[in-house]
Amino acid sequence: MTKKSQGKFETRAIHVGNKSNARTGSVSPAIHLTSTFEQDGIGKDRGFDYSRAVNPTRNRFEENIASLENGKYAISFSSGMAATTALFQTLSQGDHIVVSQNVYGGTYRVIDEVLSRHGLTFDFVDTRDMNLIEAHIRPETKIIFIETPTNPLLEVSDIAAISELCKKHNILLAVDNTFMSPYGQSPLSFGADIVMHSGTKHIGGHSDIVSGLLITSNDALADSLYFIQKSVGAIPSPFDCWLLLRSTKTLSLRVQKSADNAQFIAEWLETHSAVDEVIYPGLKSHPQHELAKKQQVNPEGNSIFGSLISIRLKSEEAVNTFVKNIEIFTFAESLGGVESLVCVPYDMTHGSVPKAMKHEMGITTTLLRLSVGIENKADLKQDLRQAL
Ligand SMILES: Cc1ncc(COP(=O)(O)O)c(C=O)c1O
Repeated sequence: MTKKSQGKFETRAIHVGNKSNARTGSVSPAIHLTSTFEQDGIGKDRGFDYSRAVNPTRNRFEENIASLENGKYAISFSSGMAATTALFQTLSQGDHIVVSQNVYGGTYRVIDEVLSRHGLTFDFVDTRDMNLIEAHIRPETKIIFIETPTNPLLEVSDIAAISELCKKHNILLAVDNTFMSPYGQSPLSFGADIVMHSGTKHIGGHSDIVSGLLITSNDALADSLYFIQKSVGAIPSPFDCWLLLRSTKTLSLRVQKSADNAQFIAEWLETHSAVDEVIYPGLKSHPQHELAKKQQVNPEGNSIFGSLISIRLKSEEAVNTFVKNIEIFTFAESLGGVESLVCVPYDMTHGSVPKAMKHEMGITTTLLRLSVGIENKADLKQDLRQAL
């Protein structure tokens, strides 16, 4: 008989961290909304003392996500940015990090305007290019931090190849896996050391929670991350952890459906005369379609290309008309929710990236990023058609 905790992805998503309550039998385990815990004597707690350090509901959520990401440990945070910052807080003054040049704007901002003032040094590099990465490695380089696919240009970096390079130089590889979710890509299985998530996106999945995660199988790294989690204190609330546990039960259904919708929409957009360019890893026209096919794989072993599509229209005026006319899609930042969203990365998600750098990367004022949800695909197509 398959144990619930050793089943396949969908089984683990529902059962790991979700054992029925032993005393009452409640199928949905209780939330521990408590800041502190009664102790039986001096130095005699029952495994829990204070909720910044440890909380039973948070433990259950972390157990669930660790299992889904094929890791030993998950350490949760109050936002994706808190998770990324915690990872860099394990380093010391003088340490160096290589970062994908096309990362989420908030990642760029925390590096450029906060962490650089604290003595860490960074290089932003096109991590699609192995030679370029190797050329930037120095004796002080401790982490290579990649986002794949990137936000919003959906550039794909080769996790297995970069992991080999990291091992050769004794560097840790961290992957922001927000866009694919644990269902759509398993960086630890390709040799990465740490996976980062904005849990705000597919993991939460309903645009109602902000959260972040780091997952690893490295014991020493997990120890220092738990230490940062309790010392710095950017923790998620027990209630958020409970909601997130509820969300991961349907992660596989949501991520697969939104990716299927996105593939359908991307193929249609490629035929539309008002659209100058469609960027989607599931299209043969995507320069790294073959790499995406082998790296972005769901637990059944099928390629999956995510729910994000970027398109370039012919003018800023066309972009304005589009965002005014759109009805089912909501004009808002974020992604990975059940509802479809559209944003203009130039002014929104990447507003804090310097203009020259945005232009160099190809993030122009005519670029739109669609986050495709799980609505009916014909309705979504019709909405895009009338807005275009
Ligand atoms: C790829 C990626 N990484 C990290 C983040 C930051 O996560 P959060 O907004 O939960 O802090 C985001 C947010 O949009 C993102 O898209």
